[in-house]
Amino acid sequence: MTPADPVRRGVGVVGGSGYIGGELLRYLSVHPGVELRWVTAHSHRGERVGEVLPNLRGIVDMEFAGLDAAGGRLEEVDVVFVALPHNQSQEVIPRLSQAHPEVVFIDMAGDFRSADRAGYLKYYKTEHTAPEWLPRFVYGFTEFQRRALKGATLIANPGCFATAMLLALAPLARAGKLHGDLCLTGITGSSGSGNRPIQTTHHPERATNVRAYKPLVHQHSLEVEGFLKTLHDGDARLQFVPQSGPIVRGIFVTLFTPQLTPLELLRIYGDAYDSEPLIDVVDGSPELRWVQGTPRSFIGVGGDEERGGVAFSVIDNLGKGAAGQAIQNMTLALGFAEPDGLQWPGGFV
Ligand SMILES: NC(=O)c1ccc[n+]([C@@H]2O[C@H](COP(=O)([O-])OP(=O)(O)OC[C@H]3O[C@@H](n4cnc5c(N)ncnc54)[C@H](OP(=O)(O)O)[C@@H]3O)[C@@H](O)[C@H]2O)c1
Repeated sequence: MTPADPVRRGVGVVGGSGYIGGELLRYLSVHPGVELRWVTAHSHRGERVGEVLPNLRGIVDMEFAGLDAAGGRLEEVDVVFVALPHNQSQEVIPRLSQAHPEVVFIDMAGDFRSADRAGYLKYYKTEHTAPEWLPRFVYGFTEFQRRALKGATLIANPGCFATAMLLALAPLARAGKLHGDLCLTGITGSSGSGNRPIQTTHHPERATNVRAYKPLVHQHSLEVEGFLKTLHDGDARLQFVPQSGPIVRGIFVTLFTPQLTPLELLRIYGDAYDSEPLIDVVDGSPELRWVQGTPRSFIGVGGDEERGGVAFSVIDNLGKGAAGQAIQNMTLALGFAEPDGLQWPGGFV
């Protein structure tokens, strides 16, 4: 928060009992510039936050309200984070924003991340019900969108895999180095699927296992290709293979870049990120444990000067991949100083 802005700004969270909502509450509870005014849940409506999320016992002292109650309390807040399952915020945000256009809405779902309505139908398997709102949202890939995010009131927070991929791809796009097929793999933890138990997050099937899913057709391809087009005129096409891994938190993405040497990669990533407080660039492989539980990211570079390079990107899917980046975007939308309330080191083991 800037010295000229000493009053805490009001915040509401829709879907606060989920994994992203809970992580938002954790980040917001230590943020110096904001105060949580209300939080909603669905099946946990009416329960105390500390009962549902015991890590917040004694820290967030309130009940989960219903979504309708939050709609009636918009005058108490400057910012609303919406952490609902996909396809729901396209009904909720236009309705609430129309009633209170001055409030900043930060959507955590995939509903407003791309203006491509046909792409939405292809990847999210349903017609978008508020297509006229799509172009009004700023895509919140923070480090490349600061100018657009300043003062924005409608922000689409990027997906977790999309964030990890763009951290590696966007500097190369801006440097004019992306052409043809962009081959990436990415391994993710089970918290990426939310708090409802399903077969693929069931402990015996996940704990010691690795499997690929949605090869080349993951829904985050839509937003990544769309955002890259805003950075360069190239013909790049994403070829992304996600894998689910035996971890709870974190994403490890590998980008194959045989057209660039490791030294060239280090120079491009250094130019892009050396002055970024939440992103570090290392020579070699970064590790998930460096970012788990934090909003930080690491880019690593490996390979061989003759064979070409390879880039790695690690984030916590709940941190930089969701709540951490959303807080960065709130910081810009409200005009706070960066990186207010976000400088946490990860654990080493
Ligand atoms: N998990 C990740 O790593 C990640 C990363 C980036 C973005 N996202 C996106 O963020 C959003 C939230 O993800 P999540 O992992 O937190 O999901 P989640 O754990 O399933 O939480 C969903 C939240 O929405 C509420 N909810 C569910 N159905 C509702 C309804 N019909 N009306 C009102 N509230 C309802 C739930 O309340 P109850 O629990 O009380 O029923 C809960 O608070 C999703 O769009 C997801 O794709 C997730």
